[in-house]
Formats: sequence, structure tokens, C-alpha cells
Amino acid sequence: MEFSELADLAGAHAAARAIQVALKLELFERLSGGPLGSDQIAGAIGCDPRALGLLINAMVALGLLEKNADGIGLTPGARRFLLASSPEYLGGMILFEEAIFPLWARLEDSIRCGKPARTPDMYQRNPEETRLFIRAMDSLVRARGDAVWMAENVDLSGVRAIADVGGGPGTYLVEFMRRLPRLRGAILDLPATLAVTRKIFSERDDVPRRIELIEYDYSTHELPSGFDAILLSNIIHSEDEAANRALFARCYRGLEAGGIVIVKDHVMNAELTEPAAGAIFSLYLLLTTPGRDYSFDEIARWLRESGFTDIRCRALPSPPFNSSVVTARKI
Ligand SMILES: C[S@@+](CC[C@H](N)C(=O)[O-])C[C@H]1O[C@@H](n2cnc3c(N)ncnc32)[C@H](O)[C@@H]1O
Repeated sequence: MEFSELADLAGAHAAARAIQVALKLELFERLSGGPLGSDQIAGAIGCDPRALGLLINAMVALGLLEKNADGIGLTPGARRFLLASSPEYLGGMILFEEAIFPLWARLEDSIRCGKPARTPDMYQRNPEETRLFIRAMDSLVRARGDAVWMAENVDLSGVRAIADVGGGPGTYLVEFMRRLPRLRGAILDLPATLAVTRKIFSERDDVPRRIELIEYDYSTHELPSGFDAILLSNIIHSEDEAANRALFARCYRGLEAGGIVIVKDHVMNAELTEPAAGAIFSLYLLLTTPGRDYSFDEIARWLRESGFTDIRCRALPSPPFNSSVVTARKI
């Protein structure tokens, strides 16, 4: 590895934090109508002009703002990914990263004691945290295009009813159901999350009415009957091995015969080192959950133990994706 590569990696937290704070201060939104002068922006936001000037310079250096004769303006990339009105807005994810940034200061403690840096609660205890978490999922999946890829590449043509277990904002389910007008679907999730799902649905005009929202705890409840497909997207990484075994067994019991389970996640190599994004993400999971990213061998073993057959894995094209989809069938 070259010096510059290591230096960039080791200093990346500063750039990440600067982007998070610029977004939280609504710096990009202020410029959505066109360029402004630096002092004008400082006045509008209520910031120290010298300090904001430094933040603006950093955003220019990172390619998110540009300076020209008219003042400070947005680059095309900032317009595409950092304005809330854009369909590819990534800001929901960045604002969640902003909120959990202090947890990273506790990584050493977590590595030493093996425990999360906060009590794992899937952000259910505080409505503002739930909102940030669920908006983050929606924002990331939309900006990166995961839901569109899944809808175009996972064959649900023979499926009558799909349960999106831990479906959160429903980004995948909406995309599936928009394309398959006869498909029935439900999001099964915890009550605080579903309150955010309802709000998100009320803001969208493309949500099929036939999506049901069902309060459900996958750790304790059997699945309602009648589903011949189950989607588990970004679920198993938050749980430990015993909980995932139990979850797969529950999915097997609940599925109609002939049904499929679809697991979408970082699916790691046997050494748990690739994809790199998954290895790094496992540290975030250490800070916040009892889980980590799992290998295909582990996932396949739990699926087989539960009774599933015809287990297949397909990686989404990287970049921009770094996850895979594993499917398995109940005979
Ligand atoms: C990382 S998010 C994934 C959301 C969505 N599936 C996606 O991929 O964008 C995890 C989801 O699982 C839900 N969840 C966590 N624990 C749960 C439980 N015990 N029962 C049901 N849902 C749960 C959370 O509320 C959240 O919506």
C-alpha cells in the first residue's frame, strides 16, 4: 500500500464528519436556488462566517460545492445526492451517520469488552432515532438503486404473496409490487418502525394500496400464514447466530410449500474479509447490535438446517453494490 492510500484511509473520518455537519446545517439546501456569497450563507444559517468559510472550502475541495463569480454553488453531484427533493437523495443515510458518529469514539471499548457501545434496540425507543434509522435505509436503497436491481433481477413471477420481514420503509416491496400488479405484499415490522413507514407512504404517490403493514416481532412470533415468499433484506446482520437460525426455522415453518426465502445482505467470503464494505460494516454492527456480516457458508448452513433446499447466491454488480442475494426454497 502506498503512503497516500493509507493516509487518505486513516484520515477519512474528517471528511466524513465535515459532509455530515454541512448536511445537518442545511448548507446544500440553502444553495438549491442558486449560488450565494459565503457571508450571506453564514447569515442565513446563523454560523460564524470565518468558520463556515472553512467548511465551504472543504466542501469545494471534496467536489460538493464550487466557487465562481456568482458565489458558492452546488456541483451536479451535490444536486443529485444531497438535496432532499432529489429521488437519489443520500442525505437520510448521511444524517443517520451523523447521529451515530459519537459511537465510533467508543470502538476501542467495544473491541476490548466485546459488547455494543449502546444497548441494541433497533432504534425503537426514541421516535427521532427510529425516524433517522428508517429514513436512512430508504435513502441508501433508493440512491444506490438496490430496490430497482432486485425488482429487475429476482424472479417473483410465480409468487402470490410476499412478506417483507423487517421491511422498514418498504423501499423494496414498493418496487416489486409496482411491477407485479397481482402480487400481494406485507411489511412485517416493529410498531415504532411502522409509524415511520406510514409517514413515508403518505409522502409517496406510487405506493400500491394492496401493501399491508403488520406489527410483528420476528424474534418471538410465528409468521402469519399465506405467504409464498419472504424477503429478509439487511436483517440477519443485526442478529447473532442463534437468532438467525431461529429466524430461518420460523420462515421455513411459516412459508407455503414451494415458497422461497430471499436473503439480501453483505454476504462475506469464508474469511469474512470480502467484500471490504462488509468487513468495515461489521464494526458498526459490533457497536450497535449482537450481529455481524456472515459468510455464504454460514447462511447456507442455517438454511439447510431449517429444511430449505435449492440454495443459490448471486452478487449484485459492484460498484455501486456490495451485497448479494441468497435464495432458497421450501419443497
Ligand atoms: C436494517 S433495517 C432493514 C430495512 C429494510 N429491510 C431494508 O433492507 O431497507 C432492519 C429492519 O428490521 C426491523 N426489525 C428489527 N428487529 C425486528 C424484529 N425483532 N421484528 C421485526 N422487525 C424488526 C427494523 O425495524 C428495521 O425496519
